[in-house]
Amino acid sequence: MKIALDLKIESSDHLSADYIEAIKQRTNLPLLEISNIDEYSHSLCLEDSGLSLQCLNLKAGETHKQPTKVDFQDAALLHRKNGFGKNQGLAKAVGLNKHEPMHVLDATAGLGRDAFILASMGCQVNMLEQSAVIYSLLFDGIKRTENSEDEELKSIIQNMSLHHASAQDWFNEIMQGAKAKPDVIYLDPMFPPRNKNANVKKDIGLLQEILGFDEGNDSLLEAAKKCAKHRVVVKKPGGKVIKGGIKPSFIVPGKTAHFEVFV
Ligand SMILES: C[S@@+](CC[C@H](N)C(=O)[O-])C[C@H]1O[C@@H](n2cnc3c(N)ncnc32)[C@H](O)[C@@H]1O
Repeated sequence: MKIALDLKIESSDHLSADYIEAIKQRTNLPLLEISNIDEYSHSLCLEDSGLSLQCLNLKAGETHKQPTKVDFQDAALLHRKNGFGKNQGLAKAVGLNKHEPMHVLDATAGLGRDAFILASMGCQVNMLEQSAVIYSLLFDGIKRTENSEDEELKSIIQNMSLHHASAQDWFNEIMQGAKAKPDVIYLDPMFPPRNKNANVKKDIGLLQEILGFDEGNDSLLEAAKKCAKHRVVVKKPGGKVIKGGIKPSFIVPGKTAHFEVFV
């Protein structure tokens, strides 16, 4: 996969030159131009309306692909927040149906949706994201929400803090005593597909295209277990539990994903 940075800014009212420079520096992506567009499969596109990830190669019959953007006003996300509350699998796995809101370390933040749900229930969520491209998307989504007029979303976002960091490095610092232990560590890495026909959500499909799959998830889990005060939660794809791997204390089932909980 080859990604280029596409700057399509018309008015730079809220996008300061420093902000644009920070994205360039952090991602180190080449600039997309008409002359080199055929060389790239994806673009990280900065427009006045925000930063998004776009697929440049269309399959036969496709006229366009919906870009992926971090949007905390997304209807499906708000439905998940308002409709299911503490009865949803994620909340039960973290323990919010029985305990007070906690300090959660979301060590694989991605597009920040799970972190947002936990933050909306009062948890203080520290998010780690190792990919510069995904970190930039998430940072942009948070910044847009902070600048919006939606007071409820703004107060949820205040419970979330984002770091461009790898989980392994962060865990090492916790073990050395340089960082505090969170109550709960949440892991949702890019698991390899269990069958290649499995339906994946569009956004996750795009993440898979550009990031591939994570190896070493068991060693990440072992390190996390040494760093959490109360529990580690691992989100696994598919509703069906497959035997094997490190045995959890219990499992919270779900339709499209289940949660393995290590107390
Ligand atoms: C499946 S996505 C997470 C989706 C997220 N739970 C959400 O609700 O949007 C996995 C993300 O974890 C990140 N990641 C994987 N391993 C990581 C690690 N060791 N440290 C930090 N980030 C990691 C990947 O770059 C990817 O963005």
